[in-house]
Amino acid sequence: MEIPAEVVAGLRAARHICVLTGAGASAESGVPTFREAQAGLWEQYDPLELATPEAFLRDPKLVWQWYAWRRELISRVEPNAGHHALVELARISRQFTLVTQNVDELHQRAGSEYVVEFHGNIFNNRCFDGNCDVGDADTEASPPKCPHCGGYVRPGVVWFGEQIPSDALELANNAAVACDVFMSIGTSSHVWPAAGLADAARQNGAMVVEINPDVTSQSSHSRYRLAGKSGVILPELVRLLAHQ
Ligand code: OAD
Repeated sequence: MEIPAEVVAGLRAARHICVLTGAGASAESGVPTFREAQAGLWEQYDPLELATPEAFLRDPKLVWQWYAWRRELISRVEPNAGHHALVELARISRQFTLVTQNVDELHQRAGSEYVVEFHGNIFNNRCFDGNCDVGDADTEASPPKCPHCGGYVRPGVVWFGEQIPSDALELANNAAVACDVFMSIGTSSHVWPAAGLADAARQNGAMVVEINPDVTSQSSHSRYRLAGKSGVILPELVRLLAHQ
C-alpha cells in the first residue's frame, strides 16, 4: 500500500513519537497472536481463558505448561523486519518511546534499548502468593514451588484482571499524552488500559497512525490507517523517512 505523504511528514516533524505494539508485531516471527485459533497441541484451549489468575489457581499445571510451550516457541524465533525498523525509527527520532504489550523480548533482541513492557515478560518468574525472589526455583517442576514461601511460581506476565506494573503504566501514559505522533501497531485494541493509550494521545493532539492488516476498534479513531503487515509497512516507512 502507498504510505500517505502526511504520515511521513508528521513523523519527520515529530518531537516525540510513541509506539504501542501488540501480538501482530511478532506474528511474522512466527509467534501466534492471542485472537487467532491455536494450532496443534493447544488448539482446544482459548488463550484468553488460560491467561488469568483464576485459570492458574484452577489448574496450575495446565497454565504453567502453556507458558512453558510459549517460552520455548519464542526462544526459537527471531525478530522480524518490523522489529528492526523500529530500532531504526528510534535512532532517527528526536524522542521515542516504545511501549509493548508483548512479553517475548523480540524488540530487545532486535536492538531496541528502552522498551516499556506493559504486560511483563514471559522469561521472568515470580511467586504467586508474595513478592519473593524466585530466581533459584527448581524450574523442572510444573509449576515449580517458591523456594522461600512454598507457593507456586508463575510467569511474570500480567494476566486479565491484574494491575499493569506501576512504572510501565506511568511511562506509557506520560509518553501517550506528550507525543506528537502515536503509532498503534499489530494490536486488536481490545485490552485495556493499553487500548486507551491511543485515545489519550489523540485527545492531547497527537496524530494517531494504525498499522494492521485488519480493521480494529481503533481504526475509525485513527487519523491514518496503514493496512498491511508491520514487517512490510515499517521498513517502507523508515526508508521514506531516510530520503529527504
Ligand atoms: P491480539 O491477538 O488481540 O491482536 C493481534 C492483532 O495483530 C490483530 O488485530 C491482527 O489483525 C494484527 N496482526 C496480525 N498479523 C499482523 C502483522 N503481520 N502486522 C501487523 N498486525 C498484525 O493481540 P494484542 O492486541 O496484542 O495480554 O492483545 C492484547 C493483549 O491480549 C496481549 O498483550 C495479551 C492478550 O491477552 C495479556 O496476556 C495480559
